[in-house]
Amino acid sequence: MRVLVTGGAGYIGSHTLLQLLRAAHEVLVYDNFANSSPEALARVQQLANRDFEVVTGDMRDANALHAACAEFRPEAVIHFAGLKAVGVSHTQPLDYYTTNLAGTLNLLRAMDAQDCARIVFSSSATVYGEPVYLPYDEEHPLNPLSPYGRSKLMVEMLLRDWAAARRGASAVMLRYFNPVGADASARIGEDPQGIPDNLMPYIAQVAVGQRAALSVYGDDYPTRDGTGERDYIHVADLARAHLAALDFAARSTGCEAINVGTGTSYSVREMVAGFERASGRQIPCRIAPRRAGDVARMCAKVDKAQSLLGWEAREGLEAMCRSTWEWQSANPQGYRATE
Ligand code: NAD
Ligand code: UD1
Repeated sequence: MRVLVTGGAGYIGSHTLLQLLRAAHEVLVYDNFANSSPEALARVQQLANRDFEVVTGDMRDANALHAACAEFRPEAVIHFAGLKAVGVSHTQPLDYYTTNLAGTLNLLRAMDAQDCARIVFSSSATVYGEPVYLPYDEEHPLNPLSPYGRSKLMVEMLLRDWAAARRGASAVMLRYFNPVGADASARIGEDPQGIPDNLMPYIAQVAVGQRAALSVYGDDYPTRDGTGERDYIHVADLARAHLAALDFAARSTGCEAINVGTGTSYSVREMVAGFERASGRQIPCRIAPRRAGDVARMCAKVDKAQSLLGWEAREGLEAMCRSTWEWQSANPQGYRATE
């Protein structure tokens, strides 16, 4: 299939790109490298030993998107490109709505002009907000707690209306839980800029000595050990879910929101212990106050992914921690050392 991948140089995009190339899809990556490096694409090209097209372009640039679509004529789009820092979205909401929401509008217009009617979208479990019950199924009320989360929910609504109005259209909205880990080659992985917001990259940077200690945001939650529990999903499993979603989009019409998680949750302490086992390094921790906006526990009901996509997660905590450690220890500066 000819697949346009927006944000294909990013963390999840690069892992999915590798699997798309290995599965013999023709790919065009559209990315402005706002939060990624061209080096990630060079490494994917080496790993897959296959070429693909790259356009350096912005989601906010409707003309550039239109030109890229007209030239490539995609049969399907996987739409990763967007801004994702929850904290920043509170102070820069208009940037988040412009890139995430208006960017998706531009994309749908460019797709319509080429008669491309299949899209797989990166949504997030953050659209659910405070749990009313757990595990979250896809019918759980939607009440995102940040501008970032609301931008994801608005895109979901937009896609629903687009798919309803357009004959033969198919939109698959994957609600990711907490993606972690790296490709087994240790050549591509998560490379956050500045101080990581998220748990796994922070632990990994402590393990290689770049940060002194992990701040554990609260140990008085009503969870197994008092620390926050999350449904971590290996990025290779997540990438595979996108290929399954592409297949599904090709044989269905309409719009579906689908959770992508493992159905199991781990606490901060369990993640630290898992990482210590995988790396053989000690991770110094200090207990810090709770982080605003955090919930105690998140966990996915994963039946819908199984029944519609025929997909389920394969990798567990050990592989998530090991691959993160292998990536971080082989690339302590991320892609920067080779840029
Ligand atoms: P990432 O930042 O690594 O990748 C996003 C990519 O989009 C980057 O390559 C970036 O350069 C590009 N991009 C950003 N703004 C752009 C613009 N205006 N024009 C063109 N390209 C632009 O993030 P990721 O972790 O790979 O996430 C991919 C998608 O999945 C995002 O939409 C994110 O919101 C969503 N998501 C991520 C997580 C997570 O924990 N990583 C969880 C839920 C949902
Ligand atoms: C965060 C975002 C979420 C986004 C997801 C993936 C918030 C409130 N939520 O989810 O919208 O989809 O990232 O990008 O920002 N923790 C620590 N110390 C740290 C970092 C994290 O103890 O230095 C704890 C957190 O309190 C939480 C767990 O680790 O219990 C996971 O945190 P994180 O990796 O940031 O993911 P989420 O908060 O689940």
